[in-house]
Amino acid sequence: MQLTAAALLAALSLVSASPLAKRDVSVPFQGKTFVNKGLVGFGRVSSELRDSFGETLGGLGSAIALESFSTDAAGKATFSLLMQPDRGHNTQVTTDYRARHHRFTGTFDAAATGPAENVALTYKNTQLYRIADPKFGLNFTTGLDPTGSRAPLLQRNILLPIAAPNNHVSFDPEGLAIDRRGFYYVSDEYGANVYVVEQRTGLVVSTITPPAAVIPLIGGKANFTSETVPDSGRAPNQGLEGLTLDQSKGGLLWGLMQSALVQDSTKSSKETNRYARLFGWDVSNPLRARLVHEYVVPLPQSKKLRTRASSELHIVDGNTFLVLARDGNGFGDTSSDSSYKQADLISTVGATDIAGSKYDQPQNPVAPGGVLDASVTPTAYQSFVDLVNKKELAKFGLQTGGAFDRTLIASKLESLALAKLPNSDDALLFVVSDSDFITKNGFQAAEQKRGQYVVAPYSDPYAEQYGNADTQVFIYRVTLPGYSQPSVKK
Ligand SMILES: *[C@@H]1O[C@H](CO)[C@@H](O)[C@H](O)[C@H]1NC(C)=O
Ligand SMILES: *[C@@H]1O[C@H](CO)[C@@H](O)[C@H](O)[C@H]1NC(C)=O
Repeated sequence: MQLTAAALLAALSLVSASPLAKRDVSVPFQGKTFVNKGLVGFGRVSSELRDSFGETLGGLGSAIALESFSTDAAGKATFSLLMQPDRGHNTQVTTDYRARHHRFTGTFDAAATGPAENVALTYKNTQLYRIADPKFGLNFTTGLDPTGSRAPLLQRNILLPIAAPNNHVSFDPEGLAIDRRGFYYVSDEYGANVYVVEQRTGLVVSTITPPAAVIPLIGGKANFTSETVPDSGRAPNQGLEGLTLDQSKGGLLWGLMQSALVQDSTKSSKETNRYARLFGWDVSNPLRARLVHEYVVPLPQSKKLRTRASSELHIVDGNTFLVLARDGNGFGDTSSDSSYKQADLISTVGATDIAGSKYDQPQNPVAPGGVLDASVTPTAYQSFVDLVNKKELAKFGLQTGGAFDRTLIASKLESLALAKLPNSDDALLFVVSDSDFITKNGFQAAEQKRGQYVVAPYSDPYAEQYGNADTQVFIYRVTLPGYSQPSVKK
């Protein structure tokens, strides 16, 4: 194969420090310089594929986590990526989807710079999660909207959301982090809980609950339905979207709400819900997590002051994080013109730590009516990687604002992962879309009789009008001073 000079340079730069190029965007933040070197990789996972249970591989980019990553001298990267769907096909109604993650292996050819796809993903296997219940034993979870609540077997002092038809625990997973001590952390939107899952078995061995301020209350009682705005607590479908693990200092787990709690807004209206809470749990013992930090993140707003809610969080160093904030336009929506999808930077340096304060009680909002209490300094927020930059998208024949076809960027970019490149401050930033299982040729299982899951076909109405939604996988190259990567295997 003949390599062009540009391709050769791209390949070489993957294994060594690369000089700044003209299109690079440098961003000073907290005394350091962060650089966006642009879109370098693109690939997709077809909406026609099914997992080992015969169910459509969709919703993949609700959360991702890199298991391993390595590069060779020619600039080819190979990796193993876990992708965790949310609550199954639910564009009409919620369904009895069992929470799970999938393992994909992948390659990224840095020497190929588009327009052909240079990221290839291969499905390997699936792990279903299970949770023990005092009354019903060990069971799978469900994506169905919760109609009640119950204490789990090992922690009788907390409540988990339960769906009536089969009494399974309702999971709407949105965040995923790998703990090399043998656990996964899975964050959820219904309870806004974090589930500690044993890697070997997929069993939930502990549940990390947020402070009382986050638990949705209706008429003074915990009520986890996603169909009603509660009186206080997490807003419906605006739970713990972001989750990331700092493996240094014995383990700190960070979770970011998608937007403000109901009491920190006016009934969670888009114009008043920008002040989202960021929680830090000490997980030096993953079975006994303790809340040790809590900050307020000022999410970006549109010109009309509507909040760009957050879909993901990723650790850079002990104080600095990437936050994925976005609008909802693109493939999957009825407007194709996306104006804001970004991986931005936040820093907790100088921000007020409100962990354990009065704000952890539902009656004490930290931002009543959407106005932040004057005694609280929020985290610093800095715009960084523009994921809908037209020139960058065009490198791989992609677009925003145009026709509803395979070239249109997905509406829901919801996940981030980082792979550090050897001998440099640079990293590859993976961004994957959540397809919402939008396909005309879908398959999903539901429990028919106790323990018996039966796969049935479905056709999504959006797909019938606009076409199937593949999962889109983007790789950006960024300079992140201070980023190290203890959690990814070589
Ligand atoms: C829960 O799983 C057990 C087997 O582990 C099964 O016997 C029981 O019927 C299940 N219960 C429900 C409600 O599905
Ligand atoms: C939860 O709230 C909804 C909406 O107000 C209500 O219909 C439902 O009965 C409540 N569930 C419980 C278990 O109280």
